[in-house]
Amino acid sequence: MTSFPLKAAVMGWPISHSLSPRLHGFWLRQYGIDGRYDALPVEPQNLQSALRALPAQGLRGVNLTVPLKELALSVIDTADDTARRIGAVNLVTVEPDGRLHGRNTDAYGFTQNLLHGGYKPDSTAFVLGAGGAARAVIVALADMGFTDIRIANRTVDRAEKLARDFSTPAGSITPVAWHDAADALGGVDLLVNTTSLGMKGQPELAFPLDALPATAAVTDIVYNPLETALLRAARRRGHQTIDGLGMLLHQARPSFAAFFGQDPAVTPQLRDYILADK
Ligand code: ATR
Repeated sequence: MTSFPLKAAVMGWPISHSLSPRLHGFWLRQYGIDGRYDALPVEPQNLQSALRALPAQGLRGVNLTVPLKELALSVIDTADDTARRIGAVNLVTVEPDGRLHGRNTDAYGFTQNLLHGGYKPDSTAFVLGAGGAARAVIVALADMGFTDIRIANRTVDRAEKLARDFSTPAGSITPVAWHDAADALGGVDLLVNTTSLGMKGQPELAFPLDALPATAAVTDIVYNPLETALLRAARRRGHQTIDGLGMLLHQARPSFAAFFGQDPAVTPQLRDYILADK
């Protein structure tokens, strides 16, 4: 009997910077799986036809990245609750009947990164930023049991929209003006940067931590550089810090499991391998 390699891919526009092929390629080799994981450039106007072609092309599914994640929700047949709440899909699987099912694993990746980093979830979180990444982080925080989530964003309207979208009777989401952010850190257990500030090529995030309780942990979704100015300042003040690379690595695990049938491990070797390419 001839066996065919299991096939999956990542779609985005542009796609050349995606680390996903390197990440999934590492695991395919590690687990000795006969599989392929390619990078496919797909313009937004071609997303529908590209996704509908997956069954005929024999792909088990795809990951989606910028700028396709939000658009995909209107193309797929079914989506899980997390993807609907976040409003974005980063994993599409081809079901046995050929239908396309969407999931979002970013919240999972964020949570797993914190837990593997030794963080114990608490009640009060402060989120910097209100873009797409913030939506996944807020869903993750709410599902971890945080009941007081404060969001500061340069454009305060976007923080207000998130507060409207995600407030529940069990948990309050409070928008905070960007220039008031440093004064609203009282009682915070976890500070999260979801903005692009601090990323290589972007301005640094200059954020005074003086009012942050000593027991608070600090995490950044930026992973290039691994230690952002925010994390460095937090470490010097003695806070527990968790870098953002683990979110990237852990969000890929459910995708690899769906495509190739193996829940892969995030190991120091994998971290080193991904960092060597940056
Ligand atoms: P993503 O999907 O990665 O979250 P995004 O939706 O473009 O990307 O959001 C980027 C985030 O970084 C936003 O919160 C943005 O603030 P605005 O909503 O005000 O644009 C924030 N950001 C980017 N550059 C910034 C800067 N120079 N100062 C403050 N915030 C910035």
